[in-house]
Amino acid sequence: MKVLVIGSGGREHALVWKINQSRKVKKIYAAPGNGGTHSMAEPIGIKADDIKALLDFAKKEKIDLTVVGPEAPLVAGIVDLFEKAGLRIFGPGKECALLEGSKVFAKELMKEWNVPTADFEVFTSKEKAEAYVNSKNRPLVVKADGLAAGKGVYICKTKADALQAIDDIMGRKIFGDSGKRIIIEECLEGEEASIIVISDGDNISPMASSQDHKRIFDGDKGPNTGGMGAYSPAPAAEGSVFKNTLDHVIYPMINGMKKRGTSYKGVLYAGIMITKKGPYVLEFNVRFGDPETQAILPRMKSDIVDLMEASIDGRIKDVPNEWEERSCVCIVVSSGGYPGKYEKGKHIKGLKNAEMLKDVVVFHAGTAISDGNVVTSGGRVLGVTALGKDIKGAIKRSYEAAEKIDFDGIYYRKDIGKKAFKDNGCTPCGCAVC
Ligand code: AMP
Ligand code: GLY
Repeated sequence: MKVLVIGSGGREHALVWKINQSRKVKKIYAAPGNGGTHSMAEPIGIKADDIKALLDFAKKEKIDLTVVGPEAPLVAGIVDLFEKAGLRIFGPGKECALLEGSKVFAKELMKEWNVPTADFEVFTSKEKAEAYVNSKNRPLVVKADGLAAGKGVYICKTKADALQAIDDIMGRKIFGDSGKRIIIEECLEGEEASIIVISDGDNISPMASSQDHKRIFDGDKGPNTGGMGAYSPAPAAEGSVFKNTLDHVIYPMINGMKKRGTSYKGVLYAGIMITKKGPYVLEFNVRFGDPETQAILPRMKSDIVDLMEASIDGRIKDVPNEWEERSCVCIVVSSGGYPGKYEKGKHIKGLKNAEMLKDVVVFHAGTAISDGNVVTSGGRVLGVTALGKDIKGAIKRSYEAAEKIDFDGIYYRKDIGKKAFKDNGCTPCGCAVC
């Protein structure tokens, strides 16, 4: 088979790495890929959002399966375009991708289908939104409706914060048309987790649970980022939380979408808050998480290409869904200054030494090759990932690997995975991890 993987982040490197293990796959292309995908996938110089050029390439090269990493091409309708041309592509169609493309769409369907989510109001008028905020005396969350590169959510502790958020989104229009409508919702408390499944429209194959670390600094402090690290499994999201999320979130959404006449195929990612009342949905994504995928795929025993093909063909139940007992941790290594301004082009040293460690894989994100060297080319640079007997073992091994890597301005959090021990008396217990 010839497979085309669209995107250029750590998630896409992890997908290429896993797809490359499939016995069915003879050739992989990456559009455009990064400094780490080169060894397994031929880079093609087409950007992830140039869906017409991607279609022409897939037709010309007779691609057997296209796998879409990021949300933008899905929301733009790449799946419908490819399917119309008779090409096989893994992911949801345009109408289903609106679950990520429009938070208002997702919230309204959740309300209709009784899927637990924060109480909310939708506003198209800045004045009405301001009046609403002025009438409330509690923390609120203000969200731009459309895609905003992960930056469209404001957690507002005070009225002033909420008014500022409304002004950013509707007054200064910093997210353009994505901010034409906003949601103002109740602020939930609890622990966050990511529950990701592959759907074939009727049935699902759940991926292992995972947890992201969204803030830049240790202890979940500082501004939000694309994600500074992840681990799998996430103990807080196992057992009844996992089952409740499937029963009360995932299945109602999959069944509801089918009844609307738009069967949901591909990845459905529920970002949940585990509240005292159970899991509540914070957001849906219509693609694999980044960096969650880097921590999940090393634990997947099944052939991912089998799962993707079964999603397209409506036979996900027939494909084994097997997972390593071992745990996995991914530390995101970033450029100094990220998520604000940062410099690029820094020579990355020590990659080979890190990769030589047992059970370690270094996924590239913002890297490029320059004069034969691997250099930084983005904010999130690498996902240093390790398997371990348990989460503690995986944390230890992944930090051992991260310490072998160096570049000018290197930054990473020192507490990835620690959250997993929060509730069992381990922090601080004096062990190697705490
Ligand atoms: P979203 O893109 O909607 O997942 O929001 C980004 C982040 O904002 C989430 O990962 C949460 O940390 C936070 N967030 C979103 N909605 C809420 C909410 N209703 N209550 C508390 N935190 C939230
Ligand atoms: N890790 C969060 C996301 O993929 O959206």
